[in-house]
Amino acid sequence: MNEMSHFYKAVGIAADDRASLIAFSSSTGVPADRLKYYNERNILPSGKDLQRICLVSGKSATQLKLEMGLFDHGLRALLQRHSGELYTLIEGELPKESNVLQMPKQVLETPFGRLYQGDCIEVMKTIESDSVDLIFADPPFNLKKLYPSGIDDNLKEQQYIAWCEEWLGECVRILKPGGSFFLWNLPKWNTTFSDFLNGLLTFRHWIGVDIKYSLPIQGRLYPSHYSLLYYCKGDKPNAFHPDRLPMEICPKCFTDLKDYGGYKDKMNPDGINLTDVWYDIPPVRHSKYKKREGANELSIKLLDRIVEMASEEGDIVFDPFGGSGTTYAVAEIKKRRWIGVEIGPPDDIIRRFAELDQEAGRLEELRLKLNRLMADDVLAARIKKGLWTPESVRERKAEDLAEKQRKLF
Ligand SMILES: C[S@@+](CC[C@H](N)C(=O)[O-])C[C@H]1O[C@@H](n2cnc3c(N)ncnc32)[C@H](O)[C@@H]1O
Repeated sequence: MNEMSHFYKAVGIAADDRASLIAFSSSTGVPADRLKYYNERNILPSGKDLQRICLVSGKSATQLKLEMGLFDHGLRALLQRHSGELYTLIEGELPKESNVLQMPKQVLETPFGRLYQGDCIEVMKTIESDSVDLIFADPPFNLKKLYPSGIDDNLKEQQYIAWCEEWLGECVRILKPGGSFFLWNLPKWNTTFSDFLNGLLTFRHWIGVDIKYSLPIQGRLYPSHYSLLYYCKGDKPNAFHPDRLPMEICPKCFTDLKDYGGYKDKMNPDGINLTDVWYDIPPVRHSKYKKREGANELSIKLLDRIVEMASEEGDIVFDPFGGSGTTYAVAEIKKRRWIGVEIGPPDDIIRRFAELDQEAGRLEELRLKLNRLMADDVLAARIKKGLWTPESVRERKAEDLAEKQRKLF
């Protein structure tokens, strides 16, 4: 039985005892599979199931919610009202805060950053409160992946959530007022973490980053986006300068991919407004670009966009989950100070820094296409084909105006 079996415990089903489950199932009439589902997902039964379970277990729905740790608004308000009595009750069981700090080993120092090998929570405990400008976190997703560090990526749901809440809490502590926090995860997990973070930071965006991340599964929609949660500490972020993107153009024939109709002349020559759905972030699959074996490496394009949007040169960037060091490489290239940590072997990150010039070149190339409606090569191809360009639209508009004035006088 799952050690976090709050539902089974609440209704009196004995641990690892199928007979007990079957007995409860036959007295309630709720199929055993469904009881198992409520337990494994920690989901409160509803409708007739709830009525029957309450009747047989002798517990009210509120008791079940409390024992399963499912606090809706009404229950939260009540707990708040009785917080004094509650605190007295739990005070003795709260974890003691330790003052003994163990700094993990520093394994790399660069002009802008420091990399540690160890546990991110340990490193964060040594970082001063309110001191980091930007945090980006891409934790393991608990998908049973094999990491070089050998970490357990197959925790029970509640254990994974509890662990994430611990390091998320530390991230919030070290984030500067006005600092920005980005959390990369599967939508499933980010629904839970946004609930936690909403009580600590200001929600700004749920950004959908369109990258297929799993094979199609029967009975499910094809998972096509990662969730990038974006928060800031306090009312508004200190830094916010989102890039503008080039308009979408067919890479073969250079014609428009969208119909801008009569609005061409209203388009900003600096490019299209960044939205909360990002379609242009590539997965890192090609061995030419990969910095380490296996999956889970993010594109420098993603980190470039985030670092550019939410920090200034000289700011401090922190990423608790180093992996191949994408955040640190981008921070270094963009002259942000950075603090990094990886629990596993740091060799891939160290190697990456030895070849950073190549990545700086690639980033520079990428950035040449931003903050303008059309990149130089596209512009040249469109002129050759007689297609509209911001310049041709401007000229046409001026000619039309002159023509109108001629007719008037
Ligand atoms: C999803 S990967 C990060 C990939 C990274 N964003 C990149 O682009 O390369 C997560 C990384 O976190 C590391 N990790 C897991 N638990 C950790 C912990 N407690 N402290 C520090 N690193 C940890 C894993 O070893 C893994 O390399």
